Amino acid sequence: MSQFNLDTCHIIDLPKITDSRGNLTFVEGGRHIPFDIKRTYYLYDVPGGAERGGHAHKGLHQLIIAISGAFDIVLDDGHRKQRYHLNRSYFGLYVCPMIWREMDNFSSGAVCLVLASNLYDEADYYRDYADFIAAASK
Ligand code: TYD
Repeated sequence: MSQFNLDTCHIIDLPKITDSRGNLTFVEGGRHIPFDIKRTYYLYDVPGGAERGGHAHKGLHQLIIAISGAFDIVLDDGHRKQRYHLNRSYFGLYVCPMIWREMDNFSSGAVCLVLASNLYDEADYYRDYADFIAAASK
């Protein structure tokens, strides 16, 4: 069984500087999240009813934030599944390696920011669920 499981994934309450001029949230790699940040990417203009994700990573750590709007993420460690609803720009969902994720229920105008521990590498993906389950149960 993989050393990583759903218990390792959790919501991180990010620092929030409230100000009448507008609030500010920041994230420091290795300090607020358990990895150094090497890459960031974001999903936007997601059409209603679309689903994203549908893969797992072998070694990548990620923090997923609903910077604007809302969406759901279902995490699956091969044994259990858990659905998270993200709708605050100061909450991040830490997703450790070896977790299959599906994302859906994107609100209109939702923006999903992802902070990642490594550069893009297609070899780090499981894109086939059966392959993931086989690896997760080793
Ligand atoms: P993918 O990770 O499958 O997106 P999602 O999890 O949001 O459904 O990536 C979609 C495409 O974008 C795929 O062809 C790989 C490419 N891509 C990059 O080139 N660099 C990146 O950093 C990411 C995340 C994806």
